[in-house]
Amino acid sequence: MSRHLSPPDSEKRIIIALDFAGEADALRLLDRLDPAKCRAKIGKELFTACGPGLLRQVHGRGFEIFLDLKFHDIPNTVAGAIAAAAALPGVWMLNVHASGGRAMLEAAAESARGERHLRIVGVTVLTSLNDGDLVQTGLAGSVRDQVLRLARLCASAGLHGLVCSAAEAALLRRELGPEMLLVTPGIRRPDDSPGDQKRVVGPAEAIAAGADYLVVGRPITRAKDPAAALETFRSEIHGNFPNLS
Ligand code: C5P
Repeated sequence: MSRHLSPPDSEKRIIIALDFAGEADALRLLDRLDPAKCRAKIGKELFTACGPGLLRQVHGRGFEIFLDLKFHDIPNTVAGAIAAAAALPGVWMLNVHASGGRAMLEAAAESARGERHLRIVGVTVLTSLNDGDLVQTGLAGSVRDQVLRLARLCASAGLHGLVCSAAEAALLRRELGPEMLLVTPGIRRPDDSPGDQKRVVGPAEAIAAGADYLVVGRPITRAKDPAAALETFRSEIHGNFPNLS
């Protein structure tokens, strides 16, 4: 089961993936959503197209931001990138590739230490990779073993949490205990189209498995009424877990 969050945090367990090519579409969507009920994720496509100016606009509308840039470089460079990103408006969560190694992860955690509001989470194995892909990159063994190895490395290096498939959340919660934040994409209700997601999990199921935050894109961003779609996700979570805090 997911760990306890402070009440305002618990109200914002859903992170909306702003997978748009430009600022106008992203802001049009956010203008239809309530920042007290969700957060926003800005990834490489949108950030590369729009730059930090977009964060000012998103933060100006009251949204906290997960800046999904998956840093992976030498420790000194990642530490500098984390410090620069932390200084951008509204940044609440940042991520790094766990395969950058212990020194890089420790540098990332250290760089964020003075920023009480900021969470640094690790990406273990991309869900687009399977066992065969790992072999091609020189890694013998299964995706599952590699996910576990990197998850433990992230925890011991002082990161706040992990991005993981909801299908891995129960295993990671069991292995890592209650403190690590688990952020899970690939969330769908039965009526939602899976799109290109291969393994999807329902919102209440993900929380039951130990997820803290759910990244949801198209089921909300492409809905006719995004605010109503967000409310459906939220009521599925809070209706199934009335005492969730
Ligand atoms: O539209 P959808 O709900 O599938 O969007 C999921 C979001 O989560 C996208 O921004 C995608 O890049 C991200 N993501 C993912 N799987 C991962 C890591 C991130 O779907 N393993």
